[in-house]
Amino acid sequence: MSTTPSTDIDHLKHQAAARAVDYVTSGMKVGLGSGSTSEAFINLLGARVRGGLDIIGVPTSERTAQLARSLGIALGNLNDLAPLDLDIDGADEADYALDLIKGGGGALLREKIVAASAKKFIVMIHGPKLVEKMGAFPLPLEVIEFGHGETAKRIAAVVKSQGYGDVPLVLRRKNDAVYKTDNGNVIYDAAFGPVMSATAKLATALSCVPGVVEHGLYIGIASTLIVARPEGIEIIDRSATGKV
Ligand code: A5P
Repeated sequence: MSTTPSTDIDHLKHQAAARAVDYVTSGMKVGLGSGSTSEAFINLLGARVRGGLDIIGVPTSERTAQLARSLGIALGNLNDLAPLDLDIDGADEADYALDLIKGGGGALLREKIVAASAKKFIVMIHGPKLVEKMGAFPLPLEVIEFGHGETAKRIAAVVKSQGYGDVPLVLRRKNDAVYKTDNGNVIYDAAFGPVMSATAKLATALSCVPGVVEHGLYIGIASTLIVARPEGIEIIDRSATGKV
């Protein structure tokens, strides 16, 4: 598979991925994220593995598992390997407290389980994804298919009770069909707009809605952000945010 970036954004994703690979050393158990930035990372990791790097990966999606296998990266089961030394993944948005929105690619549930099982969670983004207030990227919520329309109404009511007003919830579709996750669930995308605050409180409220399996708010999980911009890479560690 080609590792050559084809656009400016692809180039930045590649730069972030190249920095992330430097965190991986032989003997590590590594969570492998999902999405295009993670795929750039996995391609680079595959090249290192072919050069002798000895690691074992835990994939966060079927697509990532397929790519990693095709590159000769050994894969294992989270139950057998946790705690992982590292998890490396992308994100759709991040704020300066290192909280994230993830799930644009639909893998938020396994991604969060793997991230929570790692000693260190490194997140690769490019500049515009780092924002003051998250929510311009619609928040994905993975919902059990049974009664999902009712669950969506309850989500909308909970969101309103948190002071966000009437936030549109859109059932995700792909190729003219309702999108299904690797876990057989559906996804609603909640268009908050760039107004999110008190995200920990919102995250707890969303987790309490019956039928919600997981939401894409990752609060207090990321250890390090790798931010790629045309002028260079910025590393933001949680220890520097005062929120350790
Ligand atoms: C996958 O479900 C997501 O959480 C991705 O990590 C996120 O959408 C970032 O994707 P890109 O790297 O493709 O922008």
